Amino acid sequence: MGINHFIDKMLAGRNARKTDKLVLFCIENILSGNGLEVLDLGCGNGLFCHAISGLPSISHAVGVDVVEYCKVPINFQLYSEGQRIPVDDKSFDYTFIVEVLHHSDDAEHLLREAVRVTRGYLVIFEDVVTSGARLFFMRWFDTLMNMRHGVNTPLNFKSEDEWKLVFARLNLSIQQIYNYSFYKFYSPQKCRVFLLKV
Ligand SMILES: C[S@@+](CC[C@H](N)C(=O)[O-])C[C@H]1O[C@@H](n2cnc3c(N)ncnc32)[C@H](O)[C@@H]1O
Repeated sequence: MGINHFIDKMLAGRNARKTDKLVLFCIENILSGNGLEVLDLGCGNGLFCHAISGLPSISHAVGVDVVEYCKVPINFQLYSEGQRIPVDDKSFDYTFIVEVLHHSDDAEHLLREAVRVTRGYLVIFEDVVTSGARLFFMRWFDTLMNMRHGVNTPLNFKSEDEWKLVFARLNLSIQQIYNYSFYKFYSPQKCRVFLLKV
């Protein structure tokens, strides 16, 4: 048994709880309508894409990433950082971008691509910088959690206000900002969910 397999087993319960909580949040706060087509941009292990594809309101879910390490069967497309996302314009009602932006070398390019492929909303879960101490924690935690998958960790974290400036430059209209925690109890990360109309 390889070390990655061992770590996956150790984290299986945590990842399942994290996914359940995320899906419940989306059902209660984000998703509206039926026959929805959704994109999980930067789908990682694929758990969220897989779970959301089973909801009655979802007709089609696709996951894309620049690294392939899906743990469950999903409609997956691999592409390269900085390139065109391999889907047509305005294909999706919702594009989810969950803890991805700070991993991109060029988050604005990624967001422009997300806007291109979306006809409805972008839903961005992003850990925001609220203090120097928190930034220090976010940097080592992010590196630790992602290094084994070979995920790029440029650590491009921003504050909530800095992200708002990026969204304004891209003419994205902020519909709602939620506070979110990926874990049930205390989390040192401060996550925001930005619901943006394309
Ligand atoms: C912290 S992981 C989050 C994975 C998943 N969204 C989740 O919440 O479990 C960040 C993911 O973003 C992906 N990523 C980084 N840059 C990307 C890009 N330009 N386009 C798509 N995915 C990207 C990484 O490969 C990695 O899988």
